[in-house]
Amino acid sequence: MNALTPAAGISLPGAPHLAYANGRLTLEACDLSELTARFGSPLFVYSKASMLDALGAYQRGFQGRRARICYAVKANPSLAVLQVFAQAGCGFDIVSGGELARVLAAGAQPAHIIFSGVGKTRAEMTAALSAGIGCFNVESESELDVLSDCAKALGVRAPVSIRVNPNVDAKTHPYISTGLRDNKFGVAHERTVAAYRHAASLPDLHVVGIDCHIGSQITQSTPYLDAMDRVLDLVAEVEAQGITLEHIDFGGGLGINYQGDSPPAADALWAELLQRIDKRGHADKLLMIEPGRSLVGNAGVCITEVLYLKHGEHKNFCVVDAAMNDLPRPAMYEAFHQIVPLRLGQPTASAQTYDVVGPVCESGDWLGRERSLLVAPGDHLAVLSAGAYCMSMASNYNTRGKAAEVLVDGSSARLIRSRETAQDCFRLEQLL
Ligand code: LLP
Repeated sequence: MNALTPAAGISLPGAPHLAYANGRLTLEACDLSELTARFGSPLFVYSKASMLDALGAYQRGFQGRRARICYAVKANPSLAVLQVFAQAGCGFDIVSGGELARVLAAGAQPAHIIFSGVGKTRAEMTAALSAGIGCFNVESESELDVLSDCAKALGVRAPVSIRVNPNVDAKTHPYISTGLRDNKFGVAHERTVAAYRHAASLPDLHVVGIDCHIGSQITQSTPYLDAMDRVLDLVAEVEAQGITLEHIDFGGGLGINYQGDSPPAADALWAELLQRIDKRGHADKLLMIEPGRSLVGNAGVCITEVLYLKHGEHKNFCVVDAAMNDLPRPAMYEAFHQIVPLRLGQPTASAQTYDVVGPVCESGDWLGRERSLLVAPGDHLAVLSAGAYCMSMASNYNTRGKAAEVLVDGSSARLIRSRETAQDCFRLEQLL
């Protein structure tokens, strides 16, 4: 087999730094079997080069423009991942006081932090105001009043943007669609101008922008273009009231390739969107975006060990040591993640079809269905596209400690999160 050539019949969707070298799966210049021997299983491994490549596509798209890329922390909040993006010049989109503390610990510039979310508490608002964050993306009129109170108490003015719900179908999974009238997110398009008037009337608020986020894993340009038109209509209406908007924040949501998905490239999508913005006369505004998945999703894999093979009359099960608590996306959204071996087997042996399942006591605990695999107990598999919304949604269900995380950079591999022990899982509990 040629070094760095994907094996025949095995696709490695969307992962430019993942390849088979002499039959062994490598991420950048690191052999994943070696990393597994060193750090154990299950193990998340992320490629720094993949993250920077993905960021590069956005940066190319915004070349020569006033733009800020605020990485959506929820996709993968590891401190080292945040550090990579902070050092590359990104701001951050946070949704909790916890994420605020994380990004500050990772070296974020407070002025480049934006705070999204429908349910910010007073304590979170106060912490973010004290840190001096750049903008609150406010999602309701009542939130404006609470934020104004908090700012007044601190003797500061809170920078605000109102999140518009444009009522546009992002054409994605219903659980991750956020821009429809019946979703809980944002202020309804029809209410937006009134909300801005209210914001402008509160002396402890300072209106700085407008924002919208219509959903996640979006693979077509049309919903973005439609939402952009709706937001630009509102920019004109709000500014006609004498309220100046310094920035337009267009959210995140760009999809990745999990299984032959073909979302537009970030630079191509933005070339189209920027044309609209310019045509409507807003080329001077600061542009902000909040991408998460598209920066980290395809940069990560989760390695898992095959524990048992169960051959049944109707189904075969490949029981692995990673589970829904590590990789919740299949259980939550029936999401597809490609699963491939770390080492290619003998071409003479034949593959069998398995459901790849974890040890958790739920039938919903599956990682992949009907996968053709050539495996034996003790082998390792890689679950691909596991850089976004996997570790960040991991839990301790079944008192399973969370997996360890490693970041590779060329041939170097650094442990960025230790494996949790059982004691870590019940550290905060007390016996009667
Ligand atoms: N901005 C806001 C306000 C958001 O709510 C989100 C994601 C983002 C930005 C980043 O979106 P992205 O670029 O990552 O699509 N757990 C789900 C995804 C939930 C997305 C929630 N909001 C999944 O595993 O597919």
